[in-house]
Amino acid sequence: DTSPIKQDNDKTAKLEVFVADSTGKKLTTNHGVKINDDQNSLKAGDRGATLLEDFILREKITHFDHERIPERVVHARGSGAHGVFKVYEDMSDITRAAFLCDPGVETPVFVRFSTVAGSRGSTDLARDVRGFAVKFYTQEGNFDLVGNNMPVFFIQDAVKFPDLVHAVKPEPDNEMPQAASAHDTFWDFISFMPESAHMIMWLMSDRAIPRSYRMMEGFGVHTFRFVNASGVASFVKFHWKPLLGVHSVAWDEAQNISGKDPDFHRRDLWDAIEAGAFPEWELGVQIVAEEDEFKFGFDLLDPTKLIPEELVPVQRIGKMTLNRNPDNFFAETEQVAFHVGHVVPGIDFTNDPLLQGRLFSYTDTQLIRLGGPNFHEIPINRPVVPVNNNQRDGYMRQTINRGKTSYGPNGIAANDPQQATAADGGFVSYNERIDAKKIRARSRSFFDHFSQARLFFNSQSDAEKNHLTDALSFELGKVKTVAVRERMLGLLNHVDKGLAAAVAYALGLHVPVIPLEELNGSVPADADPADYSPEQ
Ligand code: HEM
Repeated sequence: DTSPIKQDNDKTAKLEVFVADSTGKKLTTNHGVKINDDQNSLKAGDRGATLLEDFILREKITHFDHERIPERVVHARGSGAHGVFKVYEDMSDITRAAFLCDPGVETPVFVRFSTVAGSRGSTDLARDVRGFAVKFYTQEGNFDLVGNNMPVFFIQDAVKFPDLVHAVKPEPDNEMPQAASAHDTFWDFISFMPESAHMIMWLMSDRAIPRSYRMMEGFGVHTFRFVNASGVASFVKFHWKPLLGVHSVAWDEAQNISGKDPDFHRRDLWDAIEAGAFPEWELGVQIVAEEDEFKFGFDLLDPTKLIPEELVPVQRIGKMTLNRNPDNFFAETEQVAFHVGHVVPGIDFTNDPLLQGRLFSYTDTQLIRLGGPNFHEIPINRPVVPVNNNQRDGYMRQTINRGKTSYGPNGIAANDPQQATAADGGFVSYNERIDAKKIRARSRSFFDHFSQARLFFNSQSDAEKNHLTDALSFELGKVKTVAVRERMLGLLNHVDKGLAAAVAYALGLHVPVIPLEELNGSVPADADPADYSPEQ
């Protein structure tokens, strides 16, 4: 039965086993002993000292003392919801991913929206990127599309991610500011990072202050691969298109809302779902045939570039509906563990150096955030299909494997799991040809940082351009170090001279002319700068 209710219930039923129902039940300790009084501690006499013997007091307080887990190192502030996804048409000509090949199948999903920089208790309306992470509980295992509401990223290589995040997080000496990018360390880092120019245009635009999570686009950012049953691969960019359209608030509204209701986006999502106004997105894909890899003026592996929709239209291939709020924030929204490396047969990676680093980072961070190697057994992270392998033990292990099945090949146990061929649905990595020397350097095709930044700026209406100019003026106006403001003006001048002049005017500064070859990473050391000077 593939009806939405049944399939959603399948996931719900899996979780249901773990739901505690205390209706009509007596209070007990963790070990099942009924408690007759948990409001008074055990004392020596009427006014006497509390006794160490009081196991009821000790258990209650000890558990409380250990309630907190570390918040996510980024994307700490988030809101989640359950839903379903359904593909419109069979996509088997481009991917063998089963959930994209059968319009009759409805796949349960769990989605977490987030801000990036602020801590768990920070305001929803900060000027920031928004996370848009979707876990598809498919019949072939979990597929996570861990994206953002902007189609590009700040940096081209994962090795810079700790620097970026340290710069954007509250400053190390005084832990300020809490949830905004307006501070010296962030702009100092960006001023040395011309590859951020495109992302900065998005971040200073209205996209960074959405009206609602229900009204945001989502993007997988990296170029991924689809692979069909014959092994033929194509490149794919993923998009989420909100059926309510894309809407933002103005900066003054954002600041007012932050003061009056820091939970504004969280409340909006929760209330809409409670009211039955289920938010919907269409899943879009831009497909590029493998032989067209080099036909663009930018590198498909460069995460600071998008594929303009004029060049490759977005095909809408399915719809996601969020229809159920979580029962428990901690158990679901906090403990969910997304990972860009969770793919199913038919979806594969590319060599985008940001994606490659992410493939390491997520499990690594979740090992500490969720307390060890068994966090896949937490109800929200369990797939809807059975898990069979030779892993065992570790902190908080729940599964009880029977018999002598913890290794392979195994000639003793009758119940040891066997490897699956591709025909059996086994994941087989795409057979990409690689024949190269090891090198630690920026790819030669990753050097144009300004063409798409300018493309984005020019795509804005006059009102939007004004908002973007005001945002930069406001943000850089908070920066105390004049040299940082000036370096930023020098960078903006390469995006758009009018924009740089307008921001300089607001800051009471002149625009310094910084030649392209003096901007770190804008021209390869052995190249003619003229070859890297985009039109303006
Ligand atoms: C968390 C997106 C780049 C490391 C997240 C989350 C999203 C996201 C949506 C929140 C997941 C959730 O709601 O639980 C992205 C996107 C990126 C990007 C779209 C670039 C295109 C990176 C890079 C790294 C990284 C380059 C490291 C090399 C992390 C970590 C977390 C995280 C450590 C916390 C995960 C957890 O504790 O569960 N990212 N990220 N991200 N990201 Fe990324």
